Amino acid sequence: MAFPQSFLDEIRARVSLSQLVGRRVQLKQKGRGDWWGNSPFTNEKTPSFHVVDDKGFYHCFSTGEHGDHFSWLMQVEGQSFPEAVEILAGLAGLEVPKSSPEERQREERRKDLGEVIAFARDWYTHQLESPAGKDARAYLDGRGLEAMTIDAFQLGFARDDKDSLATAAKDQGIEMAQLLEAGLYRAPDDGRAPYPLFRNRIMFPINDRRGRPIAFGGRFMGDAKAVGVGKYINSPETPLFDKSRTLYNLDRAREPARQGEQLLVVEGYMDVIGLWQAGFPASVAPLGTAVTELQIAELWRHADEPILCLDGDVAGQKAAIRAAERALSGLEPGKSLSFAFLPEGEDPDSLVSAHDGIRVMNDILAGAHPLAQFLFETESDGMRLDTPERRARLEADLFQMVAGIQNELVRKEYQRTFRDMLFNLHRKHSQTRVKQARRQAIREWRGNRDNSLGPKAESPFGKRLMEDAARRLVRRRQEIVLATLVNHPELISEFDEVLDVFAFDADLDKLRAELQKHAVLGNTLDPEALTHHLIASGVQASLSAVTVPGVYSLAPQAKPTAPISEARELLAHILLIRQQGALLGEYRTAGRDPGTQNTDPENWGPGDWEKRDARLAALRRSVDDGEGQLGQDLSDYGEKS
Ligand code: UTP
Ligand code: MN
Repeated sequence: MAFPQSFLDEIRARVSLSQLVGRRVQLKQKGRGDWWGNSPFTNEKTPSFHVVDDKGFYHCFSTGEHGDHFSWLMQVEGQSFPEAVEILAGLAGLEVPKSSPEERQREERRKDLGEVIAFARDWYTHQLESPAGKDARAYLDGRGLEAMTIDAFQLGFARDDKDSLATAAKDQGIEMAQLLEAGLYRAPDDGRAPYPLFRNRIMFPINDRRGRPIAFGGRFMGDAKAVGVGKYINSPETPLFDKSRTLYNLDRAREPARQGEQLLVVEGYMDVIGLWQAGFPASVAPLGTAVTELQIAELWRHADEPILCLDGDVAGQKAAIRAAERALSGLEPGKSLSFAFLPEGEDPDSLVSAHDGIRVMNDILAGAHPLAQFLFETESDGMRLDTPERRARLEADLFQMVAGIQNELVRKEYQRTFRDMLFNLHRKHSQTRVKQARRQAIREWRGNRDNSLGPKAESPFGKRLMEDAARRLVRRRQEIVLATLVNHPELISEFDEVLDVFAFDADLDKLRAELQKHAVLGNTLDPEALTHHLIASGVQASLSAVTVPGVYSLAPQAKPTAPISEARELLAHILLIRQQGALLGEYRTAGRDPGTQNTDPENWGPGDWEKRDARLAALRRSVDDGEGQLGQDLSDYGEKS
């Protein structure tokens, strides 16, 4: 039983060959869509079995076996061809067509249509080269297209008359009925003679992914508005041409994309062509409509992360949002989209032909926003997030969006990512209020210090104030240490020591433990990943408690934006204070006065007090030096005496 070629092509396009083969052979990816494994046809130790995903074939270098999806199932799983078609159609989510006489007829028609379109293409390119194409050549020249470019894209010209195409077609045995079916002519309802769809237009042949012409786009050469016609018109849909799945230039872009050129999605024919000429060989365009889900799926067959290039205006933003929402449901691990926005009033074609435009284009592409970031920014843009309710609102919106992602792994990652982003956004918002908070905190701190060091410290009330202030500062120092490590994870292992000697309050100690665990695991020392990990480990409350304005106002070196060298100095300083405090504790326990240097061994209690005195003196000097350098006093009263 004969299956339509288009149906078999559709199966090949929809089912990943590496996944199919991967059910039996362990494959390793070498490049994009390029897989290797041990041959299933021999008993070999070194991989000689090659699968090329987007070409849809496998090849065994040991045995010379070669084939596609269908032959794989027949050779390796022993299926008959109809059985293989049945299985693969199931995987592709397609109905197996009953091969009826009508079906066979339709297949014939497609073949016939293809020939008509190919004929028209050749005729249009011929016209462009002929005297009739003089103005068209001048137009293309005026738009900066080189002969090689015109050639590569097989551009043509549709003459401004009614009959020349039909006449030339007839010479080739192509009847008007076929031209009508191919959408090249149209028959008015009132029975008048058919008229050509494209007149006085530059012709852009549209090919299928294998490079066979299936339709045309035509650009009017004059002032389309004045004449009352569309600037561009496209062929109508035919059995060959389905606008929702076709991408202009995919046939030329797929190979460079496979070789690692960035796959770009732009708006128009001229953008694709201008980019190609400027050295961006892997760009495609939808056909005058927004990008569809089918087109996104097609893009993902050729690149993991295509970039959509859009206008920087409101329409471009809207198009981006629509595309983003369409992409969500079909996201698979490793597949995504990015969004690059062009300066207002520019399109890729105008941009790359401008002075220094290629560099600007590259910069714009380098700054493309990944899908998750784009969605988050779009949703949170302009929102006030200063109350839990407002943040919850944003979270609910984001999570509703995420719910549309069908792939569970990707969905979970999105939830996690959005939660992190919300958390960071909240932090950022709080930090904008930091200046105000800092002034307040400094005022409080000064007040406390004056109380604790002033004469009032003698009264019982003053003493309690002093002790409270000291206790608060001890706590604050713990927070400072942890905040510094959260924001500068590379210091965790360096200051393991601090973490060991510090007696953290119980709630903060959980965070301390997680930080050390993280460092021991040797995880990537990136604050975002760390924050991620900490939240996942359930220490979010402690994390929120230490990354607060009060901490940063007292110790700006703890901030995420502080240079690492300053953060390091801060921790070193706190370590010294801590050591000083511990030493003073020993004096207190022994009932000794740390203020006087004890040189008389008679006065030495148990232990080597001379050494302690020397250490204390050295520590005091270092702490003073540190204070001078850091410009702040982080030691409390008890540690000074
Ligand atoms: P644009 O109007 O942005 O044109 O349409 P462009 O690509 O910059 O073309 P030039 O530079 O003026 O020649 C972008 C795309 O939208 C579709 C076409 O596919 C076009 O390439 N379009 C535009 C239409 O289908 N019909 C129209 O009337 C206009
Ligand atoms: Mn343009």
